[in-house]
Amino acid sequence: MIPPKQVQEILDATRIEDVVEDFVTLKRRGVNLIGLCPFHGERTPSFNVNPARNIFKCFGCGKAGDAITFLKEHENLTYPEALRWLARKYNIEIQEIERSPEQMAEAQLADSLYIVNDFGLQHFQKQLFDTDEGKSVALAYFRKRGLREEIIRAFGLGYAPDERDLLLRQAKSQGYSLDLLKKVGLCSQDGSRDFFRARVMFTIHNMSGKVAAFAGRTMSSEKTIPKYINSPETEIYVKNKILYGAFQAKKAIRQLDECLLVEGYMDVISLYQAGIENVVASSGTSLTEGQLQLIRRNTSNLKILYDGDPAGIKAALRGLDLALEQDLNVKICLLPDGHDPDSYVQEFGGEAFTKYTTENAKDFIFFKTDLLLEETKGDPIKRAGLVKDIVGSIAKIPDTIKRSVYLRECSTLLEVPEQALYSEANKLITNTLKKKEEKAARQPSAASDVPPAAPPMWGGDEFFPPDIGAYFPPSEAGEGFPEFESQQKPAERKSGEEYQERDIVRLLILYGMQILPEENITVGEYVLSDIEESLGDFDNALYGKIAKECHALLVEGKVFDQHYFIQHESGEVANLAIDLLAEPWEFSPNWEAMWNYPLQNQPMPERNFTLDMRQSLDRFKLRKVQKMCALNLARVQTASKSGDHEAMMRFMKIQQKLNETRNEIALRTGTVVLAK
Ligand code: GTP
Ligand code: MN
Repeated sequence: MIPPKQVQEILDATRIEDVVEDFVTLKRRGVNLIGLCPFHGERTPSFNVNPARNIFKCFGCGKAGDAITFLKEHENLTYPEALRWLARKYNIEIQEIERSPEQMAEAQLADSLYIVNDFGLQHFQKQLFDTDEGKSVALAYFRKRGLREEIIRAFGLGYAPDERDLLLRQAKSQGYSLDLLKKVGLCSQDGSRDFFRARVMFTIHNMSGKVAAFAGRTMSSEKTIPKYINSPETEIYVKNKILYGAFQAKKAIRQLDECLLVEGYMDVISLYQAGIENVVASSGTSLTEGQLQLIRRNTSNLKILYDGDPAGIKAALRGLDLALEQDLNVKICLLPDGHDPDSYVQEFGGEAFTKYTTENAKDFIFFKTDLLLEETKGDPIKRAGLVKDIVGSIAKIPDTIKRSVYLRECSTLLEVPEQALYSEANKLITNTLKKKEEKAARQPSAASDVPPAAPPMWGGDEFFPPDIGAYFPPSEAGEGFPEFESQQKPAERKSGEEYQERDIVRLLILYGMQILPEENITVGEYVLSDIEESLGDFDNALYGKIAKECHALLVEGKVFDQHYFIQHESGEVANLAIDLLAEPWEFSPNWEAMWNYPLQNQPMPERNFTLDMRQSLDRFKLRKVQKMCALNLARVQTASKSGDHEAMMRFMKIQQKLNETRNEIALRTGTVVLAK
């Protein structure tokens, strides 16, 4: 395990812009950097990097976080992997400390499986390139199929000769464990023979380029021999989460904002060689949700190339509703009879291939409609089933506008009134929603999943001028993101109390560890000691939980900062942290006009957190005092009604004290307290 001190060292060294720029071209825009979002397809940049806060946010798809989040999402890394990645980048040498035995075992197992697979790859490559048999048999086979040497190397192709235990013997002599060789499936389960024999070898990489598994293709056309055999599933080879070629294709998929899906290993390699690099293969099986998510992370446009017969295609289409659910735009392209992508591109070349697939790709919904229409000609009963089938697919599309476009088009194609399609679709959607709600009710979901109701931000008997200066520093206001104005939510409205509580949490997360110059203690210590008695009184459970957690950490002498919250084990807390960190970005220029509150002379909150903090604390306390005022006033009235004069006098005195406190704070904050 990486020691906490070093984790901190790594995080401190990390510049979000350095990390992102390894993958995305960024341009400076005011205090921020801007580029094309790598998480969704777009042509105008809405992906923002804020070096001052060390975070990124995409205004298009909403992805946001710090460098760790970026690496986790973009490179599919785990938290420790991301840390190691950063440590390498910044030349920080990690002095590992001991992990729990289970963690050790797990990580060690994965590591050793990769190590054994690496050995396998080297072995197969050596057999291919450095032996006479390899050259004359396997290399010749690949060449005959039109592959050039650099592509053979880039994809890790190899050769397993027809020998009983060649790999086994070499592995053993080099000290590889028999158990591990069995586990990754490089030898038979009794440990007596090589698993791959007399086959050309394909390496299956995971997203970060590590060797996850192998596939071996026979060179014989003998029908009784399976054409391909594969490594078994292991901890590092989970079949439904791997797409063949994804590692090599990742970059092109993002750049071109489209992913081509083919069926076979050879299809991927041939297309890549012909310059069509945005291609992955499902390896002959139907697409799984995990694979679709892998695609969705890189683009929202999927083009599927089929070479099979209509029956096979129809079966394949059934699985594609899953892709619609992921909001992927799916196109289908059938290749001319007798061709698969590999044979087509080998015969006609990359340009012809691109031209053909561009011209012949058809939107999935329309493709399916046409195909089924053809089938149900003249059979009204089948026809009714077809309508249901198509509408079922359309109902899976999360985007309302897209959905209505399809319903309109299909109404024409199917010759069914649009209204009928709508009501059928709505029925299905309502049912799905109901099911989701029932499920959610069974397992209460995070509070942040529930969209906040929209009560006015300040109600009651006072008016708070929103202290937007603290939220929206002028430099960001001026050089903000004008193109996102239309996407701005109007001023986020939370109930009065929650708004103040959120503000406290914001202070803790943003500046918790900053030292207050005059007090010589941290903002966290100041804030929490100041509101200690209200810690149990938060109206919002999440905000209260965070405040209490910070308090507990301080009591234990521990520190917390942005990273602590962004990486928090509770997703709800992590989401909130990101929202709070990103909040100033959601500045709407309308604020100024709306609230008549000048922004221009407000310093950046980072440089002005003392003022920011005091104001937030005052606002928080004011809310609490006001609540007490109201409560106490009720007591006065009850006592007065029941004629209990003594009690009434006591409550009156309290009321007077409360009012004084309230006015004092109000005076400090410049809040107008309207007399009752
Ligand atoms: P070539 O025939 O050499 O062009 O290979 P291909 O990749 O085009 O194979 P094909 O189109 O026949 O099959 C598509 C994919 O299905 C292959 O790449 C494999 O992933 C998978 N596949 C095909 N045959 C078998 C088999 O016998 N066993 C297994 N496990 N997978 C197979
Ligand atoms: Mn083929």
